[in-house]
Amino acid sequence: MRLQDKVALITGGANGIGRETAFLFVREGAKVCIADFDEVSGGAAEEELNRLSPGSAMFVQVDVSSAESVEHMVSSAVAQWGVLDILINNAGITQDAMLTKMSVDQWHKVIDVNLNGVFYCTKFAAPHMVQRGKGKIINTSSIVGVHGNVGQTNYAATKAGVIGMTKTWAKELGHKGINVNAVAPGFVDTGMVAKVPEKVLQLMLDKVPLHRLGKPADIAKAYLYLASDDSDYVNGTVLEVNGGLVI
Ligand code: CAA
Ligand code: NAI
Repeated sequence: MRLQDKVALITGGANGIGRETAFLFVREGAKVCIADFDEVSGGAAEEELNRLSPGSAMFVQVDVSSAESVEHMVSSAVAQWGVLDILINNAGITQDAMLTKMSVDQWHKVIDVNLNGVFYCTKFAAPHMVQRGKGKIINTSSIVGVHGNVGQTNYAATKAGVIGMTKTWAKELGHKGINVNAVAPGFVDTGMVAKVPEKVLQLMLDKVPLHRLGKPADIAKAYLYLASDDSDYVNGTVLEVNGGLVI
């Protein structure tokens, strides 16, 4: 029970990596707020978690690209659970296209969710942690934010930006008892990767020494480490979880 009685807010918690994380965190004793745009999957996850562990989960609908919506998300979570121990900035989208084919709209959509969203969520959640002098903030970057990727100008910019924010907040908030770290996953088997053309995916897989895609659980376990007391002296780091795709 590495998260006994901790309260975690997980954006993008309705599907993929976020959903897996919500279930793992509840198994580890946490109460979770699943915050997601997707009301159907979010509501279903909330129901299933509360069946497995009564009173362990709430769902709040949010569009992380809207500051107003994020403010409502944070106040709903705090109203329900009283405190906020852990924030996982996991919501994210792709809108892939080669540089010259990428529309201005595709650029802005990804910036709005993946970059502005992480700023809004942390801006509104951090004061609740500062007030208590403790907290763990985990941002989701990507191998693409560290190394770039064909067809992902917008996404790479956001995921590199997330690393910049992580390091800045680690410096700003460390002395207030808050650890800020990032996880940079490789290719993980979720709806996001299902959109990648088979040929491109095979190119990636061929380069992974472990010779498989990541599973959502592989990333959820990295989040768990950074959310738990086990990582109390880890601050401002980017934990790469990619099966060795880039070494
Ligand atoms: N790596 C290497 N080569 C790639 C590539 C990649 N990631 N993506 C495309 N290419 C290659 C293609 O194989 C193709 O090569 P050939 O000309 O030799 O056939 C060339 O680039 C042009 O590609 P397309 O013909 O597909 O061009 P398009 O304009 O129709 O589509 C695209 C471009 C939308 C970028 C499409 O190729 C695509 O979706 N690529 C995948 C991009 C990708 O890897 N996205 C990751 C999504 S998962 C994620 O983002 C999570 C995470 O953090 C890792
Ligand atoms: P996913 O598509 O399965 O889940 C993303 C979730 O975010 C969905 O539930 C979606 O509804 C939610 N979401 C999207 N836009 C939102 C918005 N504006 N407001 C609120 N919620 C929103 O994707 P996956 O794979 O689980 O991705 C989770 C995170 O991991 C993302 O930040 C992604 O960029 C990152 N990542 C994923 C990798 C992969 O290979 N799957 C690799 C590296 C990073």
